[in-house]
Amino acid sequence: SVASGRYAEQFGGRLVLVTGAASGIGRATAIAFAEAGARVVAVDRDAEGVTRTAESAWLSGAPQAWAETVDVSDEQAMEKLAEKVAAEYGVVDVLVNNAGIGFSGSFLDTTTEDWRKVLDVNLWGVIHGCRVFGRQMAERGQGGHIVNTASAAAYQPSRALPAYSTSKAAVLMLSQCLRAEFAGRGIGVSAICPGFVHTNITSTARFAGVSHEEEKRLRKKVTRLYGRRGYPPEKVAEAILRAVARDQAVVPVTPEARGALLMS
Ligand code: NAI
Repeated sequence: SVASGRYAEQFGGRLVLVTGAASGIGRATAIAFAEAGARVVAVDRDAEGVTRTAESAWLSGAPQAWAETVDVSDEQAMEKLAEKVAAEYGVVDVLVNNAGIGFSGSFLDTTTEDWRKVLDVNLWGVIHGCRVFGRQMAERGQGGHIVNTASAAAYQPSRALPAYSTSKAAVLMLSQCLRAEFAGRGIGVSAICPGFVHTNITSTARFAGVSHEEEKRLRKKVTRLYGRRGYPPEKVAEAILRAVARDQAVVPVTPEARGALLMS
């Protein structure tokens, strides 16, 4: 695409690792980096999906593309992944911690097990990624960039998403702390905060804790803003490439995510 062509100089030949790459925003991001000529490591717990993404990345222009099946919430598995990637492909230049799960339900309806599931993937997955790959970047001493997919939910309170929003608020703060720590090492850190994007997460969302009327109203609003197909994940991918190229700290994506940030 034209947008990715613009980034060829910056990302051509670079090693980019994207988690949650089997579908949605992660898949679109892996392909956008591939179009810019990056070497791509696609990571997901969905083995079939991530293999498809690696194939698409290769067909889209990545000189090399690999699929790795890993659960990002598993610390040991992430350490093993980092060792393997460093040994076989090299030190990652751009890390995109994007894997995440949705969860809706009022606070009183959310069990301890629900909290653990959401925090394990959405927060611990990002912590593990930042630590294992951030350490390699720091030790190599040639800079790099980390992108974490937070959400507009990180700064927009909602009674329907307490666990999800809390996990994303933590990712947003972690990204900003890490940005401060890594600034002197030439390693940039960006938090991407999309609003409502058309992916598996949103099409299968049950909107528990939100009345049927409210859900209908929200869906109508989204359709009015972006049309029937919703805000495309490809545009979030574009925002991710831009965030790395311009070293942006916090990036709200979609108009309502920008609006909510101004109000917060
Ligand atoms: P998606 O469901 O299409 O993609 C998420 C991917 O992450 C899937 O391929 C899934 O298999 C993978 N994944 C989940 N848990 C994993 C684990 N433990 N280990 C490895 N892989 C795992 O959803 P989408 O929308 O593309 O989500 C990507 C990120 O964007 C998530 O962090 C999500 O919270 C965030 N986000 C999405 C928004 C939306 O409206 N779709 C809005 C704001 C943020």
